[in-house]
Amino acid sequence: MKLTSKMAFIACTTALATPTLADEVEVLHWWTSGGEAAAVSVLKDDLESKGTGWVDMAVAGGGGDAAMTTLRARVTAGDPPTAAQMLGMSVREWADEGFLGNLNEVAAAEGWDDVVPTAVQAFGKYDGNWVAAPVNMHRPHWIWGSAKIFEELNLELPATWDEFFAAADAMEAAGYVAVAQGGQAWQEATVWEAVVLGISPDLYKSAIIDADEDALRSAEIVESFEIMRRIRGYVDPNFAGRDWNLATAMVINGEAGMQIMGDWAKGEVINAGLTPGVEVLCGVSPGTQGAFLFNTDFFAMFDVGGDKAAAQQNMAASAMSVTFQEAFNLAKGSIPARTDVPGDKFDTCAQKSMADLAEATAAGTLFGSLAHGHGQPAAIQAAYLDVVTQHFNSDMSAEDAAAALADSVMAAK
Ligand code: BGC
Repeated sequence: MKLTSKMAFIACTTALATPTLADEVEVLHWWTSGGEAAAVSVLKDDLESKGTGWVDMAVAGGGGDAAMTTLRARVTAGDPPTAAQMLGMSVREWADEGFLGNLNEVAAAEGWDDVVPTAVQAFGKYDGNWVAAPVNMHRPHWIWGSAKIFEELNLELPATWDEFFAAADAMEAAGYVAVAQGGQAWQEATVWEAVVLGISPDLYKSAIIDADEDALRSAEIVESFEIMRRIRGYVDPNFAGRDWNLATAMVINGEAGMQIMGDWAKGEVINAGLTPGVEVLCGVSPGTQGAFLFNTDFFAMFDVGGDKAAAQQNMAASAMSVTFQEAFNLAKGSIPARTDVPGDKFDTCAQKSMADLAEATAAGTLFGSLAHGHGQPAAIQAAYLDVVTQHFNSDMSAEDAAAALADSVMAAK
């Protein structure tokens, strides 16, 4: 399997690839919202200042589903980009198929082993070799609040689901949309995994990381779907198909009270010229203090060989430098993937993330995000997302959803 895919790839590459210049990298990514694009500019400018040109291959679609479909089509056609943004499980899958180049030399020169958290290394390395450069650590289970609405209604960011629903009632009574939600499976799954983590980190581990059947059929998973149903009741009727950043804009503009979303939402706040923690409040989603889900954006280098290798090494080295990781993550909303980047320039939400990460690592409550490619391989992840979205967009009962989830995940395993 490994050799066959790789051999087919080489044959196709020879036949079809359109070479770009040696000192250019073509980068496939899905960073197309305002905040994401601002972060891409940091990367592009940094590379260009070091003599490596940037050919942009942006594929719109939050969470990266569309980008991954395009990537697969490009590789199948023998025309892979030089580098691609990828989440952890994708790195593993592409490496397993034998497509990724080896970054050991640059990793050794820059000491990646000493500064990248073990949980991130577990995805950036394959068979002991570095195959992708991690640029950040995102945390998907945040709650963002409109400071204007919270102040007007004399509310505080909710720490429990009871507080959340009480705040949501007050917001609706005052004429606001309580919950800004987008309408795509990955966005619903971002909320669901936060709910599961909030019930308990043990439940997240057993039902999601271990995909344990008893845990999937448990009363706690039924409870997670009951909470999802209640949340659904506070979402406005126009949410179908809405992009995540438009939901974030509802909070930024003071039309909606709260959004549960990863800290890429903070990139939108910064891009709007506002201060995270001031005009838009940040806290962890109800019940999740003490635990930490993460997703890391990697740059994986395709093994295109020949004259592109130098530009790829250049890009990997740049993306991992302390100065770049600081500048990029200040715009992106995430925290650096390197642990030795000073936190003093970061906002209070990012500083909280850094402190919480250290605490969760020590407590054993740091887990990969299912919705964002660090919990299960793509086929099993899809089994979860299908049921979560089906439940959220129908009147399926919580009991039926838990049973369907267990069936679907067991069939995919
Ligand atoms: C990525 C982020 C991105 C978000 C929304 C996540 O999966 O890790 O970098 O901003 O999706 O597109």
